[in-house]
Amino acid sequence: MVTKFKEKLNRKKAKIAVIGLGYVGLPLAVEFAKKGFKALGVDLDKNKVDSINLGKSYILDIPGEEVKPLVKRGALRATRDYSKLKEVDAIIICVPTPLRKTKDPDMSFIVSAAEAIAKNLRQGQVIILESTTYPGTTEEVILPLLEATGLKVGKDFCLGFSPERIDPGNPTYMTHNIPKVVSGMTKICRDNIELLYSQICGKVIPVSSVKVAEMVKLLENTFRSVNIGLVNELALMCDSLKVDVWEIIEAAKTKPFGYMPFYPGPGLGGHCIPIDPIYLAWKARIQGFEPRFIDLASKVNADMPEHVAERISRSLNNRFGKAVKGSKILILGLSYKKDVTDTRESPAYEVMERLRERGAIISYYDPFVPESSLKGHKIRSIKLTASELRGKDCAVIVTDHSNVDYDFIVKNSKFILDTRNALRNVRTNRSKIERL
Ligand SMILES: NC(=O)c1ccc[n+]([C@@H]2O[C@H](COP(=O)([O-])OP(=O)(O)OC[C@H]3O[C@@H](n4cnc5c(N)ncnc54)[C@H](O)[C@@H]3O)[C@@H](O)[C@H]2O)c1
Repeated sequence: MVTKFKEKLNRKKAKIAVIGLGYVGLPLAVEFAKKGFKALGVDLDKNKVDSINLGKSYILDIPGEEVKPLVKRGALRATRDYSKLKEVDAIIICVPTPLRKTKDPDMSFIVSAAEAIAKNLRQGQVIILESTTYPGTTEEVILPLLEATGLKVGKDFCLGFSPERIDPGNPTYMTHNIPKVVSGMTKICRDNIELLYSQICGKVIPVSSVKVAEMVKLLENTFRSVNIGLVNELALMCDSLKVDVWEIIEAAKTKPFGYMPFYPGPGLGGHCIPIDPIYLAWKARIQGFEPRFIDLASKVNADMPEHVAERISRSLNNRFGKAVKGSKILILGLSYKKDVTDTRESPAYEVMERLRERGAIISYYDPFVPESSLKGHKIRSIKLTASELRGKDCAVIVTDHSNVDYDFIVKNSKFILDTRNALRNVRTNRSKIERL
């Protein structure tokens, strides 16, 4: 299997399918297409499939000008038809891994993708899971579905896991220059998967088992969650000690070793950091191990929106003798982090909800999110004008997008709570600004 696959890769004859054309899958498919392979995106979403086949991108990091020529020369296409999987040599699964309402892993997307692969599986294919998930998923969930076809892993087909590390909105690190950890169910599987990713990634790191590879991603994201939790708690501590947490972090990060800066904020967001550690904790509990750091960090981080709402309440009272009830509060930034359109799990919604419960009149501004919904009600971004700003009792920076005129905001607002230290370079009107 290795020689045949290698030969196809070397001659750029291998066809690669990516299941799930979202923030992870589309950049991956584009990268293979750019490197001379035929890439096929498979997605259930008709809008995404149509958009790609028209040469249009719906993801900011992938410009339409990049997609169009690839589609034109037949290097990239998209489909909703799973039977097309029979034609490809490698299949990479990039479907969502959310939580259920009960906070358990929702494996339905992975299972339905694996079932569709099983229906179309043929000898010689290489299957890789990239969705972030608990350790054991590849072996316990995907392998049995694929082997139920009668084909054997390592003999008839290859299977492995390779964690996705993409950071949407990061202009420095993208698919081609983020080192790629790879693993396989057998040595042959791992060798083929290593070969595949070395076509598009500058550095590939093979590890000894799929469970190790699955855990790598969970370590990385749990590390972030725990450190953000720590610094969020430190911010709350500094608030009561009346010291500036931001100044402390700036000074601490001058240490050239043994310290890495993390920053406080209004809470965690996105499809990864608030969710992935919970996948790990869930699996650990099943094994009878009680994880403590993960739960503590999740709790501290989840409490941050309440702290932001409480802080606004206190400041409105202290500054203007005003209650939150009836106050007009403007949320600046709705997406979960700067310069992206993704609003999944964004703490902005929780902040808005907490303020609304207290009777505040909420509006928002986000150049990346023209409209959204809050508890089933449609909401629209306001236009950022001087009169809009003057009409608000408080503006709260929840997400610090780069293309926002912060001097203008400070000049025209009565009071701003800055949860991201976005106003660190604003020199005038500092008395209007409070930081987390
Ligand atoms: N977004 C990130 O920054 C990021 C980074 C690293 C890892 N991840 C992980 O990668 C995975 C995908 O995340 P994402 O952000 O790209 O999600 P996404 O929601 O942007 O994209 C997932 C896509 O899969 C499609 N889909 C769902 N079920 C399908 C099915 N059965 N068959 C075909 N298509 C299907 C959806 O329509 C959607 O287009 C998740 O496990 C996530 O944790 C995400």
